[in-house]
Amino acid sequence: MLKNYSCGELNKKYVGAEVTLAGWVDRRRDHGGLVFIDLRDREGIVQVVFNPEVSKLCHRVANELRSEYVVQVRGRVAPRPKGTENPRLATGEIEIIAENAELLNPSQTPPFYINEEAEVEESLRLKYRYLDLRRPRMKENLFLRHRIIKFIRDFLDAREFIEVETPILIKSPPEGARDYLVPSRIHSGRFYALPQSPQQMKQLLMVAGMEKYFQIARCFRDEDTRADRQPEFTQLDLEMSFVEEEDILNLIEELFTSLVAVVKPEMRLIKPFPRLTYTEAMECYGIDKPDVRFGLEIKDLSDIAAETTFAIFHSAIAEGGKVKGIYAPGGANYTRGQLDELNRLVRALGAGGLVTISLGAQADSLSELTMGMIKSVAAKYLTLDQIRDMASRLEAKPGDLLLIIAGKPEVVSAALGELRCEMGRRLKLADPNLLAFAFITDFPLLGWNEKSGRWEAEHHPFTAPRDEDMPLLDKTPEKVRGRHYDIICNGYEIGGGSLRIHTSGLQRKIFKLLGYSDIEVDDLFGHMLEAFDYGAPPHGGIAIGIDRLVMLLAGEKTIREVIAFPKTQEATDLTFKAPSPVTEQQLTELHLCLREEE
Ligand code: AMO
Repeated sequence: MLKNYSCGELNKKYVGAEVTLAGWVDRRRDHGGLVFIDLRDREGIVQVVFNPEVSKLCHRVANELRSEYVVQVRGRVAPRPKGTENPRLATGEIEIIAENAELLNPSQTPPFYINEEAEVEESLRLKYRYLDLRRPRMKENLFLRHRIIKFIRDFLDAREFIEVETPILIKSPPEGARDYLVPSRIHSGRFYALPQSPQQMKQLLMVAGMEKYFQIARCFRDEDTRADRQPEFTQLDLEMSFVEEEDILNLIEELFTSLVAVVKPEMRLIKPFPRLTYTEAMECYGIDKPDVRFGLEIKDLSDIAAETTFAIFHSAIAEGGKVKGIYAPGGANYTRGQLDELNRLVRALGAGGLVTISLGAQADSLSELTMGMIKSVAAKYLTLDQIRDMASRLEAKPGDLLLIIAGKPEVVSAALGELRCEMGRRLKLADPNLLAFAFITDFPLLGWNEKSGRWEAEHHPFTAPRDEDMPLLDKTPEKVRGRHYDIICNGYEIGGGSLRIHTSGLQRKIFKLLGYSDIEVDDLFGHMLEAFDYGAPPHGGIAIGIDRLVMLLAGEKTIREVIAFPKTQEATDLTFKAPSPVTEQQLTELHLCLREEE
């Protein structure tokens, strides 16, 4: 090794020791004669002093050094002179008196500061990702990711899971998103697809008798990139035989609880993880991945609204709609501009508009409110009692603002769900040190797609229906609940899974319901159906989005911050400049020719 110690590990205990270090120049200061270098390696930073009286040669090397130069230094650990200690640095009580130094490689001036946490444009960071990753925050994120994955592997290994790798070049399986395709050179006109997840492979591993499988698996989906979505991402994929829902949920709860205790002990969890049915989540939060770190639950006000003389409420209810609301704590004195902004937000989400009722802060309790203390365009159509009833159902008090939407039930729920999140962000209602994991269960098995006029699997077509709902499959498929569960955290879907269908008869029936012809079923899924006929055990599993999990544990806002080389929002790789054109010869070998873009 070119070093026998790391910069960050040295402290007072090492005073007098002779050490050889190697790393990057974090900072250089010339104090007329003495040159000070902050030498950085991945473990930390230590100050190195180059004194011409100790070594002229060495001092000459120091004069050459600039930021990000790579250098090897041999020297002695010494206590820093009194008054020059740096309590902010782990190595701040000592310094290295350089006796020998060798420049290993110079560096161009980096396009942004490595040693400062300044805002840098993301495209620049991604182009020079290898420099961006030198920055402490990014380095910490990659280390955290490593520790999380290592913990997961050890945890599952201790519970008799085995990790099995599954292929990346597979057959295009319809799984919801668009596939990435790879043209075959050997088979003209044929394509492999990259797996959207190892779903079918892990089920076949259960048929193969593996019983407990997991994989840190790379998945590919050609969908629009977002803060929490990448075209290629990583899942903890797992599957077990002879299990029921509880076995999987308990395993995941134990995994996350013990993981957080080890890698982020300063963060809190809600134990046991709350469980909500899909219907409860939609009713209370308007979304199936609510942030349950704060309340502000959506409440149905339709019965009170029906008693008022407000036409907007009446027409919504008459058309089979609902009137629902939430409240903004302390929002009574929002300005016109703030209210307009909230109105625009809900309109953008498809709602007709937002009815706001401001409850004056002059009163001490709802019963002391008078009409004079109420501000709302709807006030003249509502009695004071009706306003008090609405406020009390929403659990609001004087000084708060009621936010009410009337319309189609799905639109009202979705808009209030978003509005609730927005209020949570604005009012900083969520505790940043809380990881509110929760399970969502009892999803509908199928959803009707208006556009295609077909039933679609809510999760994927391999999810088993609940036994007791089986009789509904033929007549009212929309009422059938799937044995599907999601795990959510702080407003993100972290993972999802299900108990699977393991008989070919039922699997065929589901494919039929989803609109596949017998020929399509045999072509696309024949291998699965055949496998189920060779003694497939009852089985189920889950997949956890590793990138999202690491993002939440790292306190980051996008998964790009926890991926070494992520794609941009436009699905490009700026370091490697991908995607890129290929040569005519490559296209010919692949039996492809490009169409002119219209
Ligand atoms: P699902 O499609 O719900 O389930 O994916 C599981 C989890 O993977 C993460 N995830 C993503 N992360 C980043 N970028 C993406 N584009 C992306 N898409 C999904 C999410 C999600 O909860 N085969 C099933 C699992 C099973 O049934 O066992 C599956 O893939 O955190």
